[in-house]
Amino acid sequence: MDFLKAEFHCHVKLLAGGKFRRPQLIRRLNAAKGLGLDVLAVTEHMDAHDFWDIVECLIKLGLNGSGNLCWKGMRLLTGAEVTIAEGGDILLIGSAQGLKQLESRLGRLDGNNLPPFKDLLDASEDLGFLRIGAHPCRAKKVLWKMGPLLKRLDALEINAGELSKAGYVHHQAREAGVAVVAGSDAHHWLQLGRLYNIIPAGNGPDFEKIKRAVREKKTTWCRGGALHRRILNCCRFN
Ligand SMILES: [Fe+2]
Repeated sequence: MDFLKAEFHCHVKLLAGGKFRRPQLIRRLNAAKGLGLDVLAVTEHMDAHDFWDIVECLIKLGLNGSGNLCWKGMRLLTGAEVTIAEGGDILLIGSAQGLKQLESRLGRLDGNNLPPFKDLLDASEDLGFLRIGAHPCRAKKVLWKMGPLLKRLDALEINAGELSKAGYVHHQAREAGVAVVAGSDAHHWLQLGRLYNIIPAGNGPDFEKIKRAVREKKTTWCRGGALHRRILNCCRFN
């Protein structure tokens, strides 16, 4: 395997306020596998009321004795999308222990407890996450207002909903000295893989190597046209 195909922005529920059901997650895992993805980060909103139910379910489904989470050979990564007080969303991808530690520092996140961007950066600095500024051009969630603090991220995201702004995101990422990654921001399973990342494989989907490849700007991204033809033609999920 020379390259890995990785989706870094996937939700489990259509709406953050909805109720999580295990089959929703299984459907997304099967869809991602059916698309040919090698790596899937599940990044539900951390302020969702059942966020930890989702993380625990993902761990139960993915545990295979290797120490890594996998689904039918596809590497699973735990993660979260954290809304900041200034307006904006940050993806944190890493370990469930890291997410627990983050919550112990920031308190349980909800609409009344959203961390300022700098506090989130400080609290997550030593927890080993891949830190990505999500949909940085989105109205009311624009991240450019954060100025030089953006340099502390690992990457800025080209979001499937902001594809027309891709050139600008690349420009801003260059200015900040950070990488660019892509994300589908899939709330529905059919949205998975709309955009995905291509990562040098090394010896397989090791998270530390994936993180290093992103930080060293060795990844690129791609639209999921071919992947989507495949999913639409072969919808045999079980
Ligand atoms: Fe999202």
